[in-house]
Amino acid sequence: MLIPFMRPAARGIAGARLPTTSPGTTPPCPDSPPRPPTIDPLVLYAVGIDASDYVSRIVPLVQRMVPEIGDLLDIGAGAGQLGRALRRPGAAWTAVEPAAAMRSRLAGLGDARPRVVPHGWESASLAAKSHDTVLAANTSAPFQAPAAFLDRCRSWARRHVVWIVPAQHGPRGTCLSGCLPPEWHGEDERPGVDVVLSRLDPAQQPDAVVITPWTFVLPVGGIESLAEHLAERLAWAPHDPRRRALRAHLVAQCRHDARGSRLEVAKAAAVLVWRLA
Ligand SMILES: C[S@@+](CC[C@H](N)C(=O)[O-])C[C@H]1O[C@@H](n2cnc3c(N)ncnc32)[C@H](O)[C@@H]1O
Repeated sequence: MLIPFMRPAARGIAGARLPTTSPGTTPPCPDSPPRPPTIDPLVLYAVGIDASDYVSRIVPLVQRMVPEIGDLLDIGAGAGQLGRALRRPGAAWTAVEPAAAMRSRLAGLGDARPRVVPHGWESASLAAKSHDTVLAANTSAPFQAPAAFLDRCRSWARRHVVWIVPAQHGPRGTCLSGCLPPEWHGEDERPGVDVVLSRLDPAQQPDAVVITPWTFVLPVGGIESLAEHLAERLAWAPHDPRRRALRAHLVAQCRHDARGSRLEVAKAAAVLVWRLA
C-alpha cells in the first residue's frame, strides 16, 4: 500500500480503502482552505513496517536471546507483524491493543490472528503468569511509566519480558521525524534506550541489551497529504510558510527506483530482556 492517501475515498494500489482518522464533528470554517484527509499515524507506521526490514532484523535477535518464546503476550501489538513472526506454532499469541485501526489489521490475519484484548496495558485484565514471554515493542509505556509497566509485564510473564525501544541517536517522536531537520522536529535526540534505562532503578535493569540498526521505509504515492500530516503533527499553523518548505524537503528526500518512490529513515532498535526463571 502507498502512503500518502490522496482523497478520503481514494484507493491504494492494492484496492484497499485508504486509511484516515475519523472525521471530526466540527464543521470547517468557510474561509479555511480545503484540508486533505488526516492520516492515522498508527496506520502510517504499520504500512511502513510492512515495507521495512524491522521484523527481519529484530526476530533473529529475540530468538537468540529468548530461545523458548512459548505463549506470547504482545502488548501494543499494532498490526502484528513482529508478534506473528515470533509466535510459535501451537502456542498462544495474545495481543493487548487499544487502537481500533490496529485491531482491524489483526483481525485481517484470519486464522493466524491473535486473541485480542481491546484495552491499554493499564486496564488489561489478564491472569498472573499467564504467558511465557511478554513483549512490548515500540510502545510508549517504557518511556511514560517504566517502573509500573515493568512490574505489570513481570506479573504476566512466566519466563521472559522483552521490550524493544528506539536506540538511534536522533528523534523518535514520529516514525518520520528522522527525515526532518532538528529545528523543525525540536525533539530530544538521545537514544531512547538510554532514556528508558536511566528511568529504571539498578534492581530493575534488564539482564541483556542488544542493539540492531534497521531502516523505516515508507512507500509514497504523492507528497501533499504526507506533508500536511507532518505539519499537523508538528503543530504548525495552517499558513505557516514552513509548510511549503516541508513539501519541498520531502520531495528532495524521496528515493525513486523500479519499486516506486519511498522515504527512508535510518533507525536502531534495542532489545531489552529480563529473565524471570
Ligand atoms: C508504534 S506501534 C508498535 C506496534 C508493534 N508493537 C511494532 O513493534 O511494530 C505502538 C502500538 O502501541 C499501542 N498502544 C498505545 N497505547 C497503548 C497502551 N496504553 N497499552 C497498550 N498498547 C498501546 C498502539 O495502539 C500501537 O498499536
